Formats: sequence, C-alpha cells, structure tokens
Amino acid sequence: MVSERLSQLRPSPTLEITAKAKALKAQGVDVIGFGAGEPDFDTPRHIKDALYQAVEDGFIYYTPSPGIPELRQAISEKLKHDNGIDYASDEVIVTPGAKQALFEAVMALVNPGDEVLIPAPYWVSYVPMCQIASARAVPVATSKEQGFRVSAEDLASSITERTRLLILNSPSNPTGAVIDRKGLSEIADLCIKEDITVISDEIYEQIIYDAEHVSIGSFPGMRERTVTVNGFSKAYSMTGWRLGYAAAPRGIIKLMSNLQGHSVSNATSFVQKAGVAALRGSQDCVAGMTAEFRRRRDRIVELLNEIPGVECLVPDGAFYVFADFSGVEADSMKLAGMLLDEAGVAVVPGVAFGDAGEGFQRLSYAIGMEKIEEGIARIDKVVRRMR
Ligand SMILES: Cc1ncc(COP(=O)(O)O)c(C=O)c1O
Repeated sequence: MVSERLSQLRPSPTLEITAKAKALKAQGVDVIGFGAGEPDFDTPRHIKDALYQAVEDGFIYYTPSPGIPELRQAISEKLKHDNGIDYASDEVIVTPGAKQALFEAVMALVNPGDEVLIPAPYWVSYVPMCQIASARAVPVATSKEQGFRVSAEDLASSITERTRLLILNSPSNPTGAVIDRKGLSEIADLCIKEDITVISDEIYEQIIYDAEHVSIGSFPGMRERTVTVNGFSKAYSMTGWRLGYAAAPRGIIKLMSNLQGHSVSNATSFVQKAGVAALRGSQDCVAGMTAEFRRRRDRIVELLNEIPGVECLVPDGAFYVFADFSGVEADSMKLAGMLLDEAGVAVVPGVAFGDAGEGFQRLSYAIGMEKIEEGIARIDKVVRRMR
C-alpha cells in the first residue's frame, strides 16, 4: 500500500533526457550538456571561509527552526534595501533552499480544491507542489509573441471563485522573461481586487541584464498578501549548500516554521553563517558572474538565430534561452532525443515546462563559451541535415 496522492506525482520529463545523457557519457560518448540548472562558478572565497570558521567555532548544533537571528536580520535588511519591502526579522524564515520555502508557502496557503494560477511555461516543481497540497494547478499560457510575460489580462481570464494563489517567477526559469514595473503593478491591482495571495519566486533576481527587477511585494497593499521567496543558490553559486528564505506576514511565517520544524528542523547551522557572509560581504562576485552570463547569452542567442528554422528571443534574466524549434520539429521530446542521439547534445524539451512550452527547447548557458559554440555548431549540423 502506498499513498495515492504521491503516486500521482510524475517525475520530471527532464529526468528521462538527463538519464540518457548520463548513460551516453558513461559509454564514453562526448556529450555537451545544456541542461544545467546551476551556475558553473565556484562559491566565492569569503563565503567558504565563513563556513569553515563556523565549523571550527563549533557552530554545529540545531538552530531555531526559522533560522539564526543574525541571518534573519541580514535578510530583513536586504529586502528593505534592495527590494523596498519592510519585513521585520521575525517575518523571515530561513530554509534549506528556496525550493523548500516555496513548498512550505504553498502548504501554508491553500486548502484542498483551491486553484493556483501558474504562468506557463513554468518551473517544473510548482505543479507537483500544488498536487502535494491537494490544490489544483491552473496553467496560464504565455507566448513568444508577448515575450513570455504574463499580463493581468491573461490571469484575469483564468480566475474562478476557487482561485486562491498566484505563483510568479520573474526572472523566469525556463524563459528568462522579466515582468516590468507596469505589468507587475497591474497584476498587483488584480490580486488585491480578487483577493489572491502571491508567492513571488525571485531566485534569479540578481541574474538580470538590461531590465529592472521589481518585487511585487513592494506595491501598496501587496506586502500583506505576498510571500517573497529568494535564496543563495543562483546569485552566489551555492546550489549544493541548500540555503534559501521566504518573507511574509507573521501568520504565514508561523505556519511555514511549524511545517519546517516537524520536517527538516532547520537549514544547516554553519551554512546559515555563510549566508550572513554572502549578504553582508562585497557583492562584486555577483556582478562578475552576471557579466560573464551576459557575454554567453549574447553569443548563444546570436548562434541559435543563425540556425535555419530556429528563433530565439533575447532573455532579460536568468541563464537560460528558450528557443523556438517548431520550424524544425514541433515535438520537443522527439527533437531533444534526436539531438542527444545524433549530435551528443543534451537540451531540455520545452514540454517539460507545460504544454505552452511545446515546440521549444531550453538551453542553459551556465557552461563555458567553448562548449556553447561547439554544442550549437553540432545542433546546427543536425538541423541542416533534417531540413
Ligand atoms: C525558478 C526556480 N525556483 C526555485 C529554485 C530552487 O532553488 P534552490 O536551490 O534555492 O532550492 C530553482 C532552482 O532551479 C528555480 O529554477
């Protein structure tokens, strides 16, 4: 006997292609992987030093469930300074990764049968999180023509009397789209009018190019109805460290903290100390990484657009391009499989991010420039042969 609810969860379709890529690599095939969801840089020195020091100082015990006061305070100050949102330190919870913060927020905000609006293409874990919470995920499709930026109008047409929550992700994984201030302001007005709470996943906040990052929680009347989620994985290249956070009104943080206390207890003690160093230290490391990502973004977009039948927008943020390959092959799973078999190139089929992603392929440029150039040249060859 196993749980019916968990049995409904589907493993991510990306796993299929990743497993295949790994198997080919193990056989000695030279595979270029555009699947990476993490920066390929080392964690900055001063952050590692803070962790070593904390371990050396014996900071190795359980911490309070919602995090150490020092880090909660540093996050509260960051949100005030960078995002213009005034959360007290007890309105902040430190979590083992932003993913855990998102999961706890969904669990804290919905009841069975509630509907959750999710702009699509969407990050792969939002729908399973809703399923675990017995809520109904309602994808709201966006298109390449609108730059994959969801509008208040798109959202309004999907609202019913059961709509409770909206999960926003700007900059977006997989599309790199950034919603501008005006667009967010209209979405904020809609949420207030329709009494909808927002989970704002801002994990790619720092990896942004010519656009401005705006937090929806900073609009008048939104602080009370927003859970702002962020973390250290992407900005400081700390994916394996597992450190993230959420900020929200006390009542919501209390529920999330209870769930955390009864499940994972707390984020790792000495990693939290390193988090303080990340937020309080120099931010030059973040600027350096983003500058390199920009160089790669410009190159990969240029190269992809030279392939016949492929169209790629210039994304404003994150480290992914979401390229339209429908002019080559509309079945994204099929094409991803072909690219792996025939070119030794692993990409993520767009359908993994919902039906709105069908026909597209997601390529991460969190790999070196040489690999980008070699990988795209291989794709180009296969595509020309197909045509
Ligand atoms: C959109 C989005 N949100 C959240 C996360 C989770 O990040 P973390 O490593 O902090 O759990 C990811 C990681 O890939 C992501 O792409």
